[in-house]
Amino acid sequence: MMNSAVVMRDLSVTRGGRRVLTVDGLDVAAGSITGLLGPSGCGKTTLMRTIVGVQRFAGSVSVLGLPAGSSELRHRVGYVTQAPSVYGDLTVAENVRYFGAMVGAGADAASAALAAVDLTDLAGRRAEQLSGGQRARVSLAAALVGRPALLVLDEPTVGLDPLLRRRLWEFFAELAAGGTTLLVSSHVMDEAEHCDRLIFLREGAVLAADTREGMLAGTGTTSAEDAFLAMLGEQVAA
Ligand SMILES: Nc1ncnc2c1ncn2[C@@H]1O[C@H](COP(=O)(O)OP(=O)(O)O)[C@@H](O)[C@H]1O
Ligand SMILES: [Mg+2]
Repeated sequence: MMNSAVVMRDLSVTRGGRRVLTVDGLDVAAGSITGLLGPSGCGKTTLMRTIVGVQRFAGSVSVLGLPAGSSELRHRVGYVTQAPSVYGDLTVAENVRYFGAMVGAGADAASAALAAVDLTDLAGRRAEQLSGGQRARVSLAAALVGRPALLVLDEPTVGLDPLLRRRLWEFFAELAAGGTTLLVSSHVMDEAEHCDRLIFLREGAVLAADTREGMLAGTGTTSAEDAFLAMLGEQVAA
């Protein structure tokens, strides 16, 4: 049996008067990297918002054994939004300490989080003077500072240069090896190669969810993009 960090049953989400997400059943495996993949507008952010407890929904969503949105989860779930916000007039270190203080983490934890994302050298720089990629890493450090068991990252590698992107994925793998569960979204299919498990979303519904290898073997393909297209073809045929 798979040990699940997130269990969703009979989920439906309505936004702006329109149903934008319907999930009969979906589990996110604990201690591994799950890629949430699909084109823009398919519902990735909505699914993540549901898990972290900021989205109204109908149905049942349990996170680390508790109902989504439980106050006990605040310290155990880290969330980095798609357009991460940091305080421009605070330094890098002050930003991370500020977010740390909200989850009861001290200055040591803030330093460790900064080191983890390779920002120690920029600790004293004001956030408004950072590049986009550096700012994204500050947000990641802010999410890491409380040492969350579940880390939900919405398109964290978009707009980053290839080297930084690779380093981030290596870092995510280290976190997963240490027992952290990561759910990472992307609309870029080749990011799937860094994931243990994949969830394909399309038009507000789960097209497929499996291990990466299972997905490729099941479709007889060698890339996530081809697997996605094969699944689409099966769905159209059915
Ligand atoms: N604030 C909102 N109000 C109404 N509809 C929204 C809102 N945000 C997103 N949507 C709609 O919900 C659907 C899913 O969006 P989203 O979860 O943001 O997709 P993705 O993250 O995959 O790009 C889209 O049809 C989008 O237009
Ligand atoms: Mg999104």
